[in-house]
Amino acid sequence: MKKSIKILTIVGARPQFIKAAVVSRAVASHNRSNPETAVHEDICHTGQHYDHGMSQVFFDEMGIPEPYINLGVGSGLHGQTTAAMLAGIEQEIVARKPDAVLVYGDTNSTLAGALSAAKLNVPLAHVEAGLRSFNRRMPEEINRVVTDHVARLLFCPCSNAQEQLRREGVETGVHVVGDVMYDALLYYRSGAVSPAISEPFALATIHRAENTDDPVRLENIITALDACPVKVVLPTHPRTREAVKRGAIKPRGSLELIDPVSYREMLGYLQECRFVITDSGGLQKEAYFSEKPCITVRDETEWVELASAGANRVVGAGKDRILSAFDWAMAKSGSFSHNRIYGDGHSGEKILEILMQTLDRQP
Ligand code: UD1
Repeated sequence: MKKSIKILTIVGARPQFIKAAVVSRAVASHNRSNPETAVHEDICHTGQHYDHGMSQVFFDEMGIPEPYINLGVGSGLHGQTTAAMLAGIEQEIVARKPDAVLVYGDTNSTLAGALSAAKLNVPLAHVEAGLRSFNRRMPEEINRVVTDHVARLLFCPCSNAQEQLRREGVETGVHVVGDVMYDALLYYRSGAVSPAISEPFALATIHRAENTDDPVRLENIITALDACPVKVVLPTHPRTREAVKRGAIKPRGSLELIDPVSYREMLGYLQECRFVITDSGGLQKEAYFSEKPCITVRDETEWVELASAGANRVVGAGKDRILSAFDWAMAKSGSFSHNRIYGDGHSGEKILEILMQTLDRQP
């Protein structure tokens, strides 16, 4: 076995900080017990998310090692920002010569990390491989497909994802390891911060471009949330805050827009809410892990197992469908249990072990 391996982790957007925290913790724990085969991890932050509440708070609170570099790419058009990330990451790979590049999920930072590694012929590992919404208008779907097709190691959260990769002809290097977000929730939930709310409430998040950039969809969703039978707390992504302001939409009923919250605060809201309404991929699963019904305000989901299990209703952005889903969620609240569709909470260790074994066999 090699003395040590060197991994370059690329992160840039909020959900990636949470996912990367799990593998970084597995690395730290391995290094403590096995200094002779210590794994060296460098974290490169693209700067895609840059507000304190969207980025730094996660590093502080989750004990994630500080990135050695922030490329400071920020906001802009997809081509512009992805190009800037590509140029920056390429330089870092050339300078650091990692044994592998590790990317998470489906963001533009994922895509940039994937393309940079593939073009430099550095093994690419993709955590959350094989997910598909089959909606090519979503930037995330393009990012997923491209990343999976250039990755050498593909870590799937569930067997459906592995099956999808097989249908696309990707069979080598595929491993079903479970979902790192489940590991994260189990590890951090004892430190969840309880929200100061005494009445029953639902937790909502809305940030997908398909909802925020379509004034009709956004107004429908906000109006429906405002008419919910219980209070709705919506930690608001900056993009959504802007769109609500632009559309001059003024909630006056159940809906309360608050600033983005930290991971521990989010876990507190999840533990205490009646149900969840979201267009986020991650929150659909976190609702399930927390045994809360979830209403998904999208036209499809990549987490199809949750819909089949009856834990999630995918209702689109029509006001009436959202309103009737509130009745379902209120009735379902408190009456279903999580049965480990996405692994056993040890995905981080499995990913690290497979990475080490595979890289050890590289010439
Ligand atoms: C990105 C990911 C999405 C992920 C989400 C999590 C892509 C294509 N999408 O979407 O898969 O679920 O992150 O949050 O990568 N902004 C700020 N401050 C910030 C960050 C963003 O003001 O700290 C604003 C900017 O105006 C920016 C907009 O939010 O233009 C959207 O950010 P963007 O990077 O396009 O992606 P997200 O919508 O956050």
